[in-house]
Amino acid sequence: MPQTIIAGIGHYVPSNVVTNNDLLQYMETSDEWIQERTGIKERRYAHRTDETTTTMGAEAATIAIERAGITKEDIDFIVFATISPDYYFPGCGVLLQRALKMKEIGALDIRNQCSGFVYALSVADQFIKTGMYKNILLVCSEKHSFGLDFSTRGRNISVIFGDGAAAVVLQPTEEKDRGILSTHLHSDGESAEILAMYNPGTHANHWLKDAADFDEAPVGEMFMSHNMIDKAQNFPNMDGPAVFKKAVVKFPEVIMEALDKNGFKPADLNLLIPHQANLRIAQFVQQKLQLKDDQVFNNIERMGNTTAASIPIALSEAWELGKIKKGDLVCMAAFGSGFTWGSALMKW
Ligand code: UT7
Repeated sequence: MPQTIIAGIGHYVPSNVVTNNDLLQYMETSDEWIQERTGIKERRYAHRTDETTTTMGAEAATIAIERAGITKEDIDFIVFATISPDYYFPGCGVLLQRALKMKEIGALDIRNQCSGFVYALSVADQFIKTGMYKNILLVCSEKHSFGLDFSTRGRNISVIFGDGAAAVVLQPTEEKDRGILSTHLHSDGESAEILAMYNPGTHANHWLKDAADFDEAPVGEMFMSHNMIDKAQNFPNMDGPAVFKKAVVKFPEVIMEALDKNGFKPADLNLLIPHQANLRIAQFVQQKLQLKDDQVFNNIERMGNTTAASIPIALSEAWELGKIKKGDLVCMAAFGSGFTWGSALMKW
């Protein structure tokens, strides 16, 4: 059976740099608080109208395709992971297919929040291993800045998110000891509401206690009502400390799961790329696994948390900086809303 390699990688982030101090115009916060609690100094925000999740994804995809040494005509399947799609439906996969004027190939959308890249990679890996596809374009992109609560009410979540995109081209190889060695996916829906965006949706308060009142809502306002907007339920909600506590347990666990499965130890890792949720979480994981500084790559200081795009943006940056070479043992791990979490271990 062939193994899956990353044949090309690229990323695109908007040129608009938003510092912590820039956020003071919207909410009560401080550069000191944000840096101390998250490590974030700045993030990028997409142009309000000229850039979308899909257009940023298309920019990244174009670079990845070129670096793979192929053309868009060679791509035989698209996988797109995002939680900030252009439309509620259809997903960004078809919009990317249109934007890049690609053939009428399949386009799959993945909704696994911060674990989006790891889940998408795992799905694409199965298609490559079975021989179904030879050149899969996997794109992750987020335009969070369009849908955040910029008032003080939403500051715990709005300060951490940033916009950006990354893409990889996945191909089969018959070379021994190269490519994706294994992927490990997990979920625990018990905590679904701890980090979630409730509306628009069809839940009708089935799962929520303190929510906008659907019994009173006119039929035409069930999906999105003035009441929901008044209660800020059209924005993401997060119990940050609860997510943090679970993340610091599950990150090391799922990284060790991947290493154990393949007979490696943390010391064998050339590079760990953790999902960029909070620098403090990444530092905790590094310490727990006793990894040296040069074994972990973080860019959250400059990018913030770009959810599905965070791992591939970091991977692309690390590759551009020459921190990943052929044959290196690279682990990618994510934890986030759902909860969903996972890891992928590969020989570059
Ligand atoms: O990628 C998706 C997965 N997400 C994560 O992994 C996030 C995990 N959680 C975290 O990273 C942290 O919980 C946060 C960075 C989100 C928050 O840090 P925290 O140390 O857990 O703060 P907290 O939510 O417990 O809030 C502590 C205080 C509160 O004030 P009081 O009640 O103590 O007076 C908040 O109102 O900090 C306040 N606060 C802020 N102050 C200034 C919350 N957000 C801000 C802010 N600026 N942006």
